[in-house]
Amino acid sequence: MMYKIVSIPGDGIGPEVVAGALEVLNAIAKKHDFEVTVEEHLFGGASYDVHGSMLTDETLEACKNCDAVLLGAVGGYKWENLPHEQKPEAALLRIRKELGLFANLRPAKVYDALVASSTLKTEVVQGTDFMVFRELTGGIYFGQPRGYDETRGWNTMVYERYEVERIARLAFEYARKRGNAKVTSIDKANVLEVSQFWRNIVHEVHQDFPEIELVDMYVDNAAMQVVRNPKQFEVIVTSNLFGDILSDISGMITGSLGMLPSASIGSEHALYEPIHGSAPDIAGQNKANPIATIASVAMMFENSFDRPEVAGEIYAAIEDALAAGFRTGDIAAPGEATCSTTEMTAAIVARI
Ligand code: NAD
Ligand code: IPM
Ligand code: MN
Repeated sequence: MMYKIVSIPGDGIGPEVVAGALEVLNAIAKKHDFEVTVEEHLFGGASYDVHGSMLTDETLEACKNCDAVLLGAVGGYKWENLPHEQKPEAALLRIRKELGLFANLRPAKVYDALVASSTLKTEVVQGTDFMVFRELTGGIYFGQPRGYDETRGWNTMVYERYEVERIARLAFEYARKRGNAKVTSIDKANVLEVSQFWRNIVHEVHQDFPEIELVDMYVDNAAMQVVRNPKQFEVIVTSNLFGDILSDISGMITGSLGMLPSASIGSEHALYEPIHGSAPDIAGQNKANPIATIASVAMMFENSFDRPEVAGEIYAAIEDALAAGFRTGDIAAPGEATCSTTEMTAAIVARI
């Protein structure tokens, strides 16, 4: 098999964790005799500093002409005072929109070796395994009008029927594949009209999946339920902003934000990235946890290449490295020795 990957490491710890993920990708390719080509492009602040643009046409075109994109993270102190539409984060939204990546899959799965690393009690987190379907190209992130002046600031939360239909359908289809898993749709329908609309459409789509249990939940309660009893969730479907917030909370169930991968998919393109950001507080120190990005490569094999068994090998190598005691600082329990980004990467590569 031949796979053409575009890598856009971005800023902060992005290049460090992407380097680790590419080592794992190369090891898997070697093992299976896949031919993998990786083309690297600048993105975010790293691109701005060279080209004066966070997302050049060249990078965008490359992302449109490959089998999958691997992204690190963007953003940092250096660029945070630029005008809003010029910030690295705006470029990330643009790339998602241009590639049509309307669904962001964010799994929260607890590795047994890490139950003690969570700030939550072992019996609460052990066995947690749910998937968040976050709508990614609509909602308040993209609604018009938006802006601020001296006296007010405003954004618009809006959803079109087709936007809710397609993310809901994807979530129900996934739930069906998972043996008719329960779907929880999270909204704020008690206050927001856009959420009532979301709820109505999700229920319409549900009529095509009568064998699947659908539960509605308000987002404030959901945030509490995720830490109270995460095992009640199997599939979550929610809007862009709520999904952003809930997936970071879910990260702590798994021990660290540094553990959570994601797949952003559309009908033509796909991009894989950790859910965390550029972590400027630890950037350049070889301290970042590369597992979220390495697991994002596993999601690439599952979603873009239809090779779940290859993904399984990557997850197993991660699990083995954790079981052998390798811990970056973010997942070390009190008193446990820590390793670097490159040591964690090497430990995983050695187990491929
Ligand atoms: P962040 O996710 O970068 O960091 C939050 C905390 O988690 C920090 O203490 C950080 O050190 C830690 N952390 C994150 N990833 C880690 C890893 N792999 N290993 C170990 N520790 C890790 O969020 P933030 O601090 O709110 O944002 C920093 C910058 O990143 C901002 O510019 C923000 O806009 C950007 N950001 C980008 C993305 C993205 O590119 N997808 C996502 C979130 C935030
Ligand atoms: C994420 C990030 C982004 C988001 C930002 C950096 C635009 O927080 O990928 O979760 O809010 O989607
Ligand atoms: Mn986020």
